[in-house]
Parts: sequence; structure tokens; C-alpha cells
Amino acid sequence: MGFSVLGSFLVLSILFRHSLSQESNTDGSFIHDFLKKMSVKSSSSGYNFSAPFCSWRGVYCDKGDNVIELVFSGLGLVGVVPDTTIGKLSHLEYLDLSNNKITALPSDLWSLNSLKYLNLSFNQITGSLPSNIGNFGRLESLDLSENRLSGSLPEAIDSLTSLQILNLKKSGFESSIPFGLLQCHSLVFLDLSENKLSGSLPNGFAAAFPKLMFLSLAENGITGSDLDLSGMRYLSHLNISGNMFKGSVVSFFQGAIEVLDLSNNQMEGDVSQVKFDSNFNWSHLVHLDLSQNKLSGEIYGDIKLAQNIKFLNVAQNRFSQQQFPEISMMHGLEYLNLSDANLIGNVSSGLSMLSSLKILDLSRNHISGHIPPFSIKSLQILDVSYNNFTGEIPQLVLKKLPWMEKYNFSFNNLTFCASNITHESAFIGALSSCPIAANPAFFHRKAAKHRSIEFALVLTISMVFLLIGLFTLLFLAFGCRRKTRMWEVKPSSHKEEPNISGPFSFQTDSTTWTADVKQVTSVPVVIFEKPLLNFTFADLLSATSHFDRGTLLAEGRFGPVYRGYFPGGIHVAVKVLVHGSTLTDQEAAKELEYLGRIKHPNLVPLTGYCLAGEQQIAIYDYMENGNLQNLLHDLPLGVQATDDWSTDTWEEENNGIQSVGSEGLLTTWTFRHKILLGTARALAFLHHGCSPAIIHRDVKASSVYLDMNLEPRLSDFGLSKIFGNSLEDEFARGSPGYVPPEYLQSQSGSSDPPTPKSDVYAFGVILFELITGKKPVGDDYHANKEATLVTWVRDLVRKNEASRAIDPKIRGTGEDAKIKEAMKIGYLCTAELSSKRPTMQQVVGLLKDIEPHSPQ
Ligand SMILES: *[C@@H]1O[C@H](CO)[C@@H](O)[C@H](O)[C@H]1NC(C)=O
Ligand SMILES: *[C@@H]1O[C@H](CO)[C@@H](O)[C@H](O)[C@H]1NC(C)=O
Ligand SMILES: *[C@@H]1O[C@H](CO)[C@@H](O)[C@H](O)[C@H]1NC(C)=O
Ligand SMILES: *[C@@H]1O[C@H](CO)[C@@H](O)[C@H](O)[C@H]1NC(C)=O
Ligand SMILES: *[C@@H]1O[C@H](CO)[C@@H](O)[C@H](O)[C@H]1NC(C)=O
Ligand SMILES: *[C@@H]1O[C@H](CO)[C@@H](O)[C@H](O)[C@H]1NC(C)=O
Ligand SMILES: *[C@@H]1O[C@H](CO)[C@@H](O)[C@H](O)[C@H]1NC(C)=O
Ligand SMILES: *[C@@H]1O[C@H](CO)[C@@H](O)[C@H](O)[C@H]1NC(C)=O
Ligand SMILES: *[C@@H]1O[C@H](CO)[C@@H](O)[C@H](O)[C@H]1NC(C)=O
Ligand SMILES: *[C@@H]1O[C@H](CO)[C@@H](O)[C@H](O)[C@H]1NC(C)=O
Repeated sequence: MGFSVLGSFLVLSILFRHSLSQESNTDGSFIHDFLKKMSVKSSSSGYNFSAPFCSWRGVYCDKGDNVIELVFSGLGLVGVVPDTTIGKLSHLEYLDLSNNKITALPSDLWSLNSLKYLNLSFNQITGSLPSNIGNFGRLESLDLSENRLSGSLPEAIDSLTSLQILNLKKSGFESSIPFGLLQCHSLVFLDLSENKLSGSLPNGFAAAFPKLMFLSLAENGITGSDLDLSGMRYLSHLNISGNMFKGSVVSFFQGAIEVLDLSNNQMEGDVSQVKFDSNFNWSHLVHLDLSQNKLSGEIYGDIKLAQNIKFLNVAQNRFSQQQFPEISMMHGLEYLNLSDANLIGNVSSGLSMLSSLKILDLSRNHISGHIPPFSIKSLQILDVSYNNFTGEIPQLVLKKLPWMEKYNFSFNNLTFCASNITHESAFIGALSSCPIAANPAFFHRKAAKHRSIEFALVLTISMVFLLIGLFTLLFLAFGCRRKTRMWEVKPSSHKEEPNISGPFSFQTDSTTWTADVKQVTSVPVVIFEKPLLNFTFADLLSATSHFDRGTLLAEGRFGPVYRGYFPGGIHVAVKVLVHGSTLTDQEAAKELEYLGRIKHPNLVPLTGYCLAGEQQIAIYDYMENGNLQNLLHDLPLGVQATDDWSTDTWEEENNGIQSVGSEGLLTTWTFRHKILLGTARALAFLHHGCSPAIIHRDVKASSVYLDMNLEPRLSDFGLSKIFGNSLEDEFARGSPGYVPPEYLQSQSGSSDPPTPKSDVYAFGVILFELITGKKPVGDDYHANKEATLVTWVRDLVRKNEASRAIDPKIRGTGEDAKIKEAMKIGYLCTAELSSKRPTMQQVVGLLKDIEPHSPQ
């Protein structure tokens, strides 16, 4: 009988439905109405309401054309859902209206007692949730998150015994968690976070959800003490952050906790109590946050067992003083926050093994020692502020900073040198150890607290000179004759303002030159290898302290040469070519760019240039060890200690700086030969290795520099080309003693064009200087008053008395024969007739033949 009743019911209902489908009250018409009233226009949404409704997007029917699934997520539905629309889809099992702007639900919605899935998240639904929710006895998933509900979660929720997922995150619920919730025994996922829930958890909470895997109560005002969750056998994610939980114990089933966020509560007592269960399996833990509690004691030693942990935050507790925890086994750590954890001593060496570390916060501890070379590969945020770190910030770390999101080294005892630093507030209290203030703002800032910017500037400038002084000590150690002048450094009185405008006039001993620069920041300084630095004339001004005389290195034939420091430790010699070029700016730039590409181990590299009005300014690498002129004639290298210069200053100042000079390198033929060969190679390269050949035209002892390795390097090559004709007469007057006879004889204007052979002649003079230790002209040659170095030595060579000319410091060291051979090379180079002089290539060959024995 039961069968026949059921059968006739089925037949009836099919007949009934069939008749209805001809009417307007079909599922299709309800949905059509819904979409129309919620302002979805068919044209804009792509709905074709003439097509069968079961084919509409987001509409899914069963075989009887009943709508069982409706997915209208993110359709832009706005406002109140009217009655007699979706509330009439009596077969509906799955309803997703998430991500719209729905403000209220229809009263007939609660009749949909077939619903298994309801997603109303990310809407603007207001009001309280009616007890009718209890009608949804089959509901398995309910998502009301991100809404504007109010009132409490109804007790009627106890009817949802099939519920597995309940997401009420940020939905607006208030007051305490209803006891009824404990009837939802099937829950696997429960998120009540970011509501206004208060009170304690209902009794039996932990035992009520044996299947729960995810539990978040975060950001409410829930109270409780000594949380016991040992009934939740499958719990893997617990977030109770931001509540008012007290106590010191949290108990879990010996489980597979992966994520544990207990932060921002009022947990107190020894942290080792929060050790969960004695069988707690650390190896599952991925995320542990105990920050912002009142935990005491020491971070448990067991934590090192958390081999798979990625996130560890124990910041802001009340730990006792403790050493840096052992973390070297946490290979995958990405986030480590030990801020305000009362750490003392050094950073654990394990820190440098954490190659995945992205965020490291060690701030507000008492950590001492050096900043370790963290594994900085993936680091994005670094905060070590408020510690007791000392020493230099490693370059490795500094180099990474421009690519990092955030960093802070403030309030330590650190020094650093970096140019790229834009966040000065990350270095509060740190000292710049750069030769020049990397960013003068650091100093401005500090000094500004005391007085004015002017004060800061004087401070900066005097520090700069102090540091320049240190760097120049070596130079001084050579006993530079112009020593006193060099050191009479007065802080320049001008104010460095970024937009001061020229023209500027600068005075040296022998000349006054003018830079006709209107806007200091609009005239670029080109640094070939660092095109991104964007230096301007303003930087050039500060690099040379406004071309202060104290930074004057020399006054060459082309013009004055200044020492300069650009930010980033770029130490340069700035050569102002004052004697007016005939080239246009464009041509000069092209020529300088060309010279910048000429590289040889025995050439001083052109680093960059600046075209400042009339003046071309060539910028060279700074050569640490001065030039041959200083070494031979100004500086007492190798002179016995009884000489007058050695008594006071330099010996003690030289102490501890660098003992380059004290051994007296020039006492060896080996060193002098090295200088000769290097210089010859440089010229041979210019003459034969460049096309067209570059004729130097100003080879002299003061053009041969010694770099930090005491390798000779020839400077100023190619500059004469930039000066074109204007230098011709200059050349005729030339550097005394180095000018070949063919130029001396012809009057200016009628002279032959310069050839490589004039460089060869000048090289010969340098060779004689190096062997005799005497100057090209005006020295005591033990000969007639008219003599020059060249005539004197050539005369001796011809008379086969060359050994008399050898500098006593290298005479009789077993190399005399080779030295005499070298003098013959000089003799050839200084031949009257330029055609008789060898080429520089030949000179290199000849010099190599007389290479000294290596010293025993
Ligand atoms: C709408 O659907 C009807 C019936 O399937 C069809 O004839 C018509 O071409 C469709 N219109 C558009 C614009 O797709
Ligand atoms: C509800 O919809 C939102 C937004 O579309 C989605 O992110 C969320 O996973 C859905 N909730 C559930 C329980 O499926
Ligand atoms: C815990 O919940 C808070 C609030 O929703 C959230 O900010 C935090 O990221 C959560 N913690 C974890 C580990 O997911
Ligand atoms: C912890 O879990 C790992 C991986 O599941 C397992 O190999 C290990 O035996 C467990 N340790 C304990 C003490 O249960
Ligand atoms: C470290 O944790 C503290 C406390 O939770 C927090 O204020 C700080 O922002 C965290 N640091 C980083 C870098 O996340
Ligand atoms: C920092 O270190 C110095 C020297 O090691 C020590 O004297 C000082 O007390 C330390 N300061 C702090 C705050 O730990
Ligand atoms: C701490 O580090 C400093 C240098 O960074 C080192 O000199 C000192 O020996 C270290 N102390 C310990 C206890 O390792
Ligand atoms: C400055 O940063 C740039 C990239 O922003 C980088 O190429 C350059 O090497 C950095 N210079 C220094 C001195 O760190
Ligand atoms: C900072 O370092 C300097 C020199 O290293 C030392 O004299 C000074 O005491 C240190 N200051 C602190 C607070 O540790
Ligand atoms: C570094 O920390 C100090 C002290 O908290 C703060 O004043 C400064 O603004 C911070 N700098 C940056 C760049 O975060």
C-alpha cells in the first residue's frame, strides 16, 4: 500500500509541475525576477533570458528542471533580496550569493530546508540572524563572514547537526558564544574570529567538536584560563590571538598541531608550561606565535625540535634574561621575531644558516657583538634596533638594503659606510665610517639638534678633512714639501645649498678659474661605470669641498687637480682643464667618453667627466701613492734617517698607517725598473695599441702615478687632443726638461706636429731621472751650469763613465751592469734626431732584457 501511495504522489506531483511550468511561477521566473530586482541587466551581465533558465550562468538544475544550485557570486547584486524570488526555489541545495552588496535577506529564505551549502559572505547584510536558521537542518556549510550583522548567534544553531564548516569571521556577532553551538558535533572548521564575542567558552566546548581541525576565536573578547583542547583529536590549526585568555597551560591531544597562534592574550607563568601535551609532536609545527603575552621563564629548549617551522614569534613577553635560542635546526624558518625577549649575549651562529629567512626582528633586546653575516639572500625586513650591537654593519648586509622592504639599525653602537641609504631614520645613532659622509644628512640631522645647519656643515667639513687627513697621512709620510700648505685647511665658509647658481670662481696659487654653471644640480657629472648615480656639479662641489685649496693635489699644465670624495667611497682626482678647449661640448664629451674606454693596467683610468661651462673637468681614479715626482724629488724615500725631514712628523704619523715608505723602495733597482717598464708599457699601448695612436705629449715624472699596489700608472693621456691647437704654444713652453729638441728649436706655430717620438724622448728623461735621482733641470749635475740632466748623462754615457751618474742609493747593489744598460736605452730615447729614437714597443723589449734578478 505504501508503494501505491508513494506512486500516486509522484504521478500527481509530476502532473502538477507540468501544468505549472506553463505558468509564470517556475524556478526560471523566480530567478528572472531576482536578477531583475537586484539590478542585474541581461545586456550587461550576458544573461539571455530568452534561453532556457537551466542554461543560465550559475544556474544548475536536476533532471526535472528544478534549480538545485545557484552560484551568483560577485554579480554586483545590490540591496534587499525580495520575497518570492530565490526563497521559492524549493529544491535548492547550494546557494552562493557571496561577494555582492546584499543588505537584507527575504523572510521566505528560511523555508529552503534542502539547503546544504549557504554562502552569504562578503556582503553588507545587517540586522540579527533569526532563529529560523534552525530550519536548515541539512546545512553542511554556512559562511556568513564579512557582513554587518549584529546581536548574538541564535541558540537555534543547535539544529545544524550536519554542519561541518561554520565561518562567521568578521560577521558582526556580539555577546557570548551560544551553548547551542556545542550541538554542532560535525564541525571540522570553525571560524568565529574578529567579532565582538565576549564571555567565556561554554562548558564542554573542547569535547563538543571531536572532528574539529581548524579553530579560530581570534580578535574577540573571550575569556578563559588554562585552555584544555585535548578532546580535539584532529586539531591542527588553533588561533586564539587577541583575546583575554589567561593561565599558563594549553593542553592538546598529542596531535598534529601545525599552526598555533596564542598571541596577544594574557597568558602568564613559565613559558615551558605552554608546552601543550607531553607527547606534543614538534615536528608538525609550522607556525608558532606566542607574542604579546606575559609569559616568563626561558624559551623552551625543545623548540629546536621544530624542524619544519616557518614562522616563530615570541616577541613581547616577560622572559627572564636568556641567551639567544638555538635555531640552527629550523632550516625552513621564514619569519623570526625575537623582539623584546630579554636576549643577552651574541647572536647564535645558527642564524646565518637560515637561508629562507625573509623577516627578522631582533629589536629591543640586549644582544651584543657584531652583526653576523646573516643569510641575507631572501631577507626583506630586518630590525635590530635597540640592542648593543657593535662594530661595522657588514657590507654584505648593506648591499642588500636597497632591495629590502624595511630595515632598522637604530640605537646600537654600529658604524657603517654606504651610499645608497635613503632611510636615515634606520640608522639613528649609528656612525658613518665613510671617508666622507655618505649622506651629509646624517650629520646635518644630528648636529641640527644642537645648533644650526651651518654648525652641521662645519662639523661635516671638518670631519671630512679629518678623514682626508687620515688618508693623506701616507702621502704625508713621503714628506711632501708642500706639506704645510696642504694642511692649512680652513673649513670653507660657503653654505651648500642645492640650488645655488653660478658662475663660480675658484682661486689657486697660479690661476683663477671660473665655472659658468647656472644651476648646480642641472649640470651632470658623468661617472662611466655608475651611470645610475646621477651626480651633478653640486656633488662635485661637495666632493671637493667647493674646490677648496685644501683639496688641491697639484697644479698641472692643464690646470689644477683636486682630490674628491663622492658618496659611495668613490675617491677621485678632479682635473680642471682650465685652458679652454676648442671643442664644442658635444665633441669634448665624445672624446672623453672615448678616453673613458681606454683601459690598461699602467694607465690611470678616466672615471668620468663634467662639462661645466667653459671648463672641461676630467675625473680620474685617485692614486693612493702619489706620483713619481713626489717619490723622487719631493719625498725622502730611502733616505737615511739622519736627514732633517725625518725627525718629527712623518715617522710617528706613519706609524701604523702603512709602512710603504719606511723600507725605502727606491733603494732597489727592482722597483725602479718596475716603474720604467710599466710606464713604457703604457706608452707602447697608447702608441701602438690604440687606433688612431694616442700621443701623450706631456710625459713627465709627475704624470706617472703609483696605485695602491705601487704599480706605475700613466695619467693625462689623450687630454692634449681635447685642447687641440690651443695647447700647441703651451707645449712649446712645455714642462721644462722634457721637451724634445725639435720643439725647442722651432718657434711656436712652425713646429712639426707632435709624433710618438716626442713621448719617447720624454720617457728617456724619466729613465735618467729614475736612475740618477736627479731632476731634469736645475739640479746639481757636477758639471757646467748650462747642463741639463739629459746633456749630463748623455755626455757620461758617451765617455763610458755612466756609472758616475747612478744614484748612490742603488749603486753597487750588484745590478750596476744592468743599470748601465738601462742608461743606454735612455741615451737612445733622448737622441737629438727623433728618427733615431726607438719606438716604445722596442723600449719595452729592451727593458725586459735587463729585468733585474728577483731579490734574494
Ligand atoms: C538567446 O537565446 C535564444 C534562445 O536560445 C536564442 O535564439 C538567441 O539567439 C539568444 N540571443 C543571444 C543574443 O544569444
Ligand atoms: C564563500 O565565498 C567566498 C567568496 O566567494 C569564498 O572565498 C569562500 O571560500 C566561500 N566559503 C565556503 C565555505 O565555501
Ligand atoms: C589569527 O587570527 C588573526 C585575526 O584574524 C589573524 O590576523 C592572524 O593572522 C591569525 N593567525 C594565523 C596564524 O593565521
Ligand atoms: C612526529 O611526527 C612525525 C611525522 O609524522 C613522526 O615521524 C614522528 O614519529 C612523530 N614523533 C612523535 C614523538 O610522535
Ligand atoms: C614582532 O612582533 C611584535 C609583537 O607582536 C610586533 O609588534 C612586530 O611588528 C613584529 N615585528 C615584525 C617585523 O613583524
Ligand atoms: C652594551 O655593551 C657594553 C660593553 O659591552 C656594556 O658595558 C653595556 O652595559 C651594554 N649595554 C646594554 C644596554 O646592554
Ligand atoms: C661575541 O662576538 C664577539 C664579536 O662579535 C666576539 O669577540 C666574542 O668572543 C663573542 N662572544 C661569545 C661568548 O661568543
Ligand atoms: C646602490 O644601489 C644600486 C641599485 O639600486 C646598486 O646597483 C649599487 O650597487 C648600489 N651601490 C652600493 C654602493 O651599494
Ligand atoms: C660604543 O662603542 C664604543 C667604542 O667601541 C665604546 O667606547 C662605547 O662604550 C660603546 N657604547 C655602548 C653603549 O656600548
Ligand atoms: C627605527 O627605529 C626607531 C626607533 O624605534 C624609529 O624611531 C625609526 O623611525 C625606525 N626607522 C625605520 C626606518 O623604521
